[in-house]
Amino acid sequence: MIPAASPPFPSTAQFSDGRLMRIGGCDVDDLAAQHGTPLWVLDGADLRARLRAYREAFAGHDVYYATKANSVLGVLRLALDEGCDLDVASLGELAAARAAGAAGERLILHGNNKSDAELDAAVAAGVHRIVVDDHDEVARLDERGVARGEPIDVWVRATPGVSAGYHAAVRTGTDDQKFGLSIRAGMADAAIDAVVDATGVRLRGLHCHVGSGVLDPTAFEPVVDAMVGLLAGVRDRHGIELGELDLGGGLGIAETGGHEPSVASYAEALRSAVQARCTEHGLPMPRLAVEPGRSLVGPSGITLYQVGSVKTVPGVRTFIAVDGGMSDNPRHALYGAAHPFLLAGPAAVAAPGDEPVTVVGKHCESGDVLARDVVLGATPRPGGLMASGAAGAYTHAMASTYNRLPRPAMVLAEDGDARLLVRRESIEDLLALDVPPA
Ligand SMILES: Cc1ncc(COP(=O)(O)O)c(C=O)c1O
Repeated sequence: MIPAASPPFPSTAQFSDGRLMRIGGCDVDDLAAQHGTPLWVLDGADLRARLRAYREAFAGHDVYYATKANSVLGVLRLALDEGCDLDVASLGELAAARAAGAAGERLILHGNNKSDAELDAAVAAGVHRIVVDDHDEVARLDERGVARGEPIDVWVRATPGVSAGYHAAVRTGTDDQKFGLSIRAGMADAAIDAVVDATGVRLRGLHCHVGSGVLDPTAFEPVVDAMVGLLAGVRDRHGIELGELDLGGGLGIAETGGHEPSVASYAEALRSAVQARCTEHGLPMPRLAVEPGRSLVGPSGITLYQVGSVKTVPGVRTFIAVDGGMSDNPRHALYGAAHPFLLAGPAAVAAPGDEPVTVVGKHCESGDVLARDVVLGATPRPGGLMASGAAGAYTHAMASTYNRLPRPAMVLAEDGDARLLVRRESIEDLLALDVPPA
């Protein structure tokens, strides 16, 4: 048995003949037998190491784990315990963070369309910063700050006009999308000026998030240019030197192998770019914040599936159908995201074979594809296991119950023990919200 040589499988994963056998000291067969499939498995040691790497690389600055990537309470607790704070983007994520034990001052609130209930809950919880995403939000927060007699601390989310990320659906830095306030169109300056003029809100810093899956940290340099330029504008117009700059999340992972930037190199690229631009503008170095999601939890997770049908369409391709699909991981169906697949466990193989296969789910759509053209090195045996890597982020968080498939359980595998983080949804759970017909 050999340990994982490289990403995207977690650090404690062990392999034999190209098959995944163990994770977190637990045999994959035992995990499947005990918890059923599909099963989300997080590698506890890998996740802790990633959280620590972020804290160390950004020492003296702030790391807000992007709760949206995986908001399971056990994961949030781990992030808090390892010294990361949390970014939340809805009432539900705020409730999850609070239920995981986060004090308000360890939270920031995002959202391009925050409801009154979300603003009220954030103010009541005393969240550290509310990230203003829209001009009207300034007035809505101002009212609340005036009413409580204490200004609300905010960042203004600016759109730097820089495109980054692996797919249009996750590029959030350009003007032609719904997030933030365009720098080019003067919207960011207008919101900043409105905050400065208001008495119920206090401008603490600026924010941006330009996209996800960025594999080259130097891609953030033009973003830093634009954001430090904005800081300089605030100083020039208002005489205020803001001390906080949040550059969002977005560091990518090597989903199907290849080069994965280290968190240390990412931190260094951001720090040195901000320092250089601040020196040019005669500004002090602000306290930085980042909001990693995928690069914190993505590589730590796998999904275990059981293989069902193995169907070869002569001259076309072989479809390997597993017992989940777009309901437990919609990312390929949504935007072509790549996930590595491997056979798993000792009983996985039916016959040798190196033809590429397509891994599909059991949903009623031909687009229910998990991975295309995967070379497994063997033909899987129906009833055997398969594992998908890079599955810790945006899987449980984006899961649905399409076709009334119950959502999987999630466990944290560590030192030979698998701790249940989320129990498997039951058929009763699935029907619980429907009002039975009379
Ligand atoms: C505001 C904000 N911050 C952070 C993130 C996390 O991004 P990633 O998971 O790519 O690190 C996102 C992702 O959508 C986001 O919208």
